[in-house]
Amino acid sequence: MHTKLIMEHQKTQSIISELKKEIKQSLERPLFEYFKEDPKRVETMSVSAPYIFADFSKNLLSSKTFKKLCQIPLALQIEEKIKNMFGGGNVNTTEIRPALHTLLRKIETPTSPSLANKHALCMKTLQQMESITREIHEGKRKTAFGERITDVVSIGIGGSHLGSKLILDALRKKTSQVNIHFLENADQNEIARVLHVLEPRNTLFLVASKSFSTGETLLNAIEAKKWLSQSRPCPEELNKSFIGITNNSSAANAFGISAENILPLWDWVGGRFSVWSAIGLPIALGQGMTTFYDFLAGAREMDDHFQNSTVNSNLPIILALLSFWNHNCLEAESYAVVPYCDNLRFFPSYLQQLEMESNGKSITLDGNEVSYNTAPTTWGGVGTASQHAFFQLIHQGTRMIPVDFILPLQTGSFNQELEHYRVANCLAQSETLMLGNKEKNTKPEKRLAGSRPSTTLMLENLSPRALGALLSLYEHKTETLGFLWNINSFDQWGVENGKKAATRIMQGLNSKDYSGHDQSTSSLMRKYVETMANDEKE
Ligand code: F6P
Repeated sequence: MHTKLIMEHQKTQSIISELKKEIKQSLERPLFEYFKEDPKRVETMSVSAPYIFADFSKNLLSSKTFKKLCQIPLALQIEEKIKNMFGGGNVNTTEIRPALHTLLRKIETPTSPSLANKHALCMKTLQQMESITREIHEGKRKTAFGERITDVVSIGIGGSHLGSKLILDALRKKTSQVNIHFLENADQNEIARVLHVLEPRNTLFLVASKSFSTGETLLNAIEAKKWLSQSRPCPEELNKSFIGITNNSSAANAFGISAENILPLWDWVGGRFSVWSAIGLPIALGQGMTTFYDFLAGAREMDDHFQNSTVNSNLPIILALLSFWNHNCLEAESYAVVPYCDNLRFFPSYLQQLEMESNGKSITLDGNEVSYNTAPTTWGGVGTASQHAFFQLIHQGTRMIPVDFILPLQTGSFNQELEHYRVANCLAQSETLMLGNKEKNTKPEKRLAGSRPSTTLMLENLSPRALGALLSLYEHKTETLGFLWNINSFDQWGVENGKKAATRIMQGLNSKDYSGHDQSTSSLMRKYVETMANDEKE
């Protein structure tokens, strides 16, 4: 049944071989029996972390197995790896860099002198963010047309986009006169949708790009320039309608953004971990700097929980161990994240980059092919809508798909009927996934196997602190899985080849030379160009 090798770490071999014996039982024993056998199961298999209460008792493992799982981080000295990451060690081994997203939210003086310089840069940048936010909110900062900024368009993609978009949408209640918009894909229809309601004279563009070389972002920035130029600004003033957020200030200068309008990023912060940096400026502009500081503070509280909690009460580590159990031991291929609240509708796509771009790897830190599975597919959608989309598959499909239910308690809604409905449906899904429906006289097509695992994470509220804690929680889950799988969670070489191929194909489309590609790609290129040519003739 288990065709795939389960992770064989020399340090954890004995634990893994013990765990192997329990896999069969875990897959065959009805999940509800664990509750009958152990009335304290919920107590043992739930944990409180900052702003989040997690009940993981509906997972397919006994408390005995869970205790065994908790030995793995100790055997692998995960605590040392965590300390090394927070301390600025080169955890990004292929680019020989630290991953210090945690330093960005450490507003008080850092513990180790070795981080003092980097910390000073973080603090200086926060001050720059503060003054830009104040200038814009007070109407002192003007556009290239000498007028007040009423709208800000953040141009960016991936980690330079997803975090700010998620948090601004989650916080929702507008607290500043400035409207924030996002341009992500290089798509004329998206540009038209976003810009057609805006006034060039009152619009500021943020070009958010760590590399300042991402195709989509540069193309959108050029389109933004063209759009502004239609209103004939004074050319020397044009740069006033742009702010750059980048680690590549020379490229930003070359684009025409002046030095005083550039906020820094650094190579020791990964793109998908950068919402805590100046990349998060849209959050400050849309919601105020106090909110941004609260967002950082919530993440820092989760950092402290992660650094100081013992394994069996450490929520990020527990989520990582459950993922290891579900995907490496029980061999689930994917897992669904289902927030039961519209404010978190962008959370699944944020997590997709964080988890799959970090741990979608197959080479260990020492350069060998892994002999076990690494990141599963992360996917999901908002509840209750997902119950009318893919819960049929999760209940009756042939695959076991674990679910993380994210259930904010206080959402700012005072409509008790709707709030009860939202909460009742979330709990009903996890209960039904566990119990199934196998009454004797149930028709086969109506039977639910049950014993389908889920974890319910109750979020106290949707405050900036709670949101910061939630994102930090999944960052640390991701890092811990990388440590467990002995892979580099902080590089992303897999996306480079596609970018290079796109450049070659672009050249072929422009020159109508389809050679140098495989038969399929060449014929598709030709078909596209010829179709466009025919359209133009008509
Ligand atoms: O997807 C590849 C990637 O480099 C991500 O890691 C990053 O968040 C995104 O593209 C955008 O990169 P940049 O901020 O350099 O434009």
